[in-house]
Amino acid sequence: MKPSDKKIYVAIMGFGNIGRGVAELLKTNAKTITDNSGVEVVLKYILDVRFPAESEFEPLFVTDFSVIEHDADVSVVVETIGDTKFAYNFTKLALRSGKSVVTSNKELVALHGFELFALAQENNVKYLVEASVGGGIPIIHPLRHCLAANKITEIYGILNGTCNYILTEMTNNGTDYATALKAAQALGYAEPNPDADVSGKDTFRKICVLSMLAFGKQIDPNSVRIKGIQDVNIPPKGKIKLIGRAVLKDDGDVEVSVAPQVLDDSELLANVNGVFNAVVFRCDALGDVVFYGKGAGKMPTASAVVADILECGGGAANGKC
Ligand code: HSE
Repeated sequence: MKPSDKKIYVAIMGFGNIGRGVAELLKTNAKTITDNSGVEVVLKYILDVRFPAESEFEPLFVTDFSVIEHDADVSVVVETIGDTKFAYNFTKLALRSGKSVVTSNKELVALHGFELFALAQENNVKYLVEASVGGGIPIIHPLRHCLAANKITEIYGILNGTCNYILTEMTNNGTDYATALKAAQALGYAEPNPDADVSGKDTFRKICVLSMLAFGKQIDPNSVRIKGIQDVNIPPKGKIKLIGRAVLKDDGDVEVSVAPQVLDDSELLANVNGVFNAVVFRCDALGDVVFYGKGAGKMPTASAVVADILECGGGAANGKC
């Protein structure tokens, strides 16, 4: 067991499904988190425009961002607002006031990632985005650290838990599309407007984030044909999956696509079911490497957010020794 030698104060902006999951995980796993990392994380504020009727976290609620901005104790701000207007402004203000920001907001990272990473650097703080791709699966940290010796030439995979859940239900259980979508919403997988999931936009945003980090390229949404699963027909053979793909071409351009694809039953991705995601990186030294796990949902995504909080707080590696 590591002694807790650091205490950090954190604020959560946005108390929806994921923000609530982060608050709950910090509370229920407080001892495990400190034992694993040597960091004691103290949740000081929760910012939301809606006050929840009965919440154990009520004493932490604020509605004015400037309370967080001007509290010098707060060193990490979690952005789980999920829009691109308030989230963008608050993220910039937090970074400029010397606070690291941790986010699950793939739309914001896909749109403004380059600017926000640069702003974090200018202010000697971090902008960490692990939870924006693949829910709870560690993808971005391994990409930035463990794969640093490799040139990556292609990234592809199943990046939307809602779509994969719907397609799996339709294929394996004969569930109709509307019923499967409702179930995915009830399980907390879908976006507030599930059109972003089923239209392929969410997969596109995630592949944009990965392209940004792996290839240093901003992808123009107008250059990409995005096809979702709304009109999908379940094939009699094989498995249909929504695949996001980014390929680094010889001229340095990156070609991105999002579309349903029929895979042979023997293929690895054909056997990724339900809310699970899997993403493959094609690397020149390592070869193909696959990251697999729960790609959506409250607690899996909260797990990724808390890992980033600990990285901001200088947490030691989890290893118990
Ligand atoms: N709605 C997203 C999904 C949530 O289903 O994958 C995780 O980004």
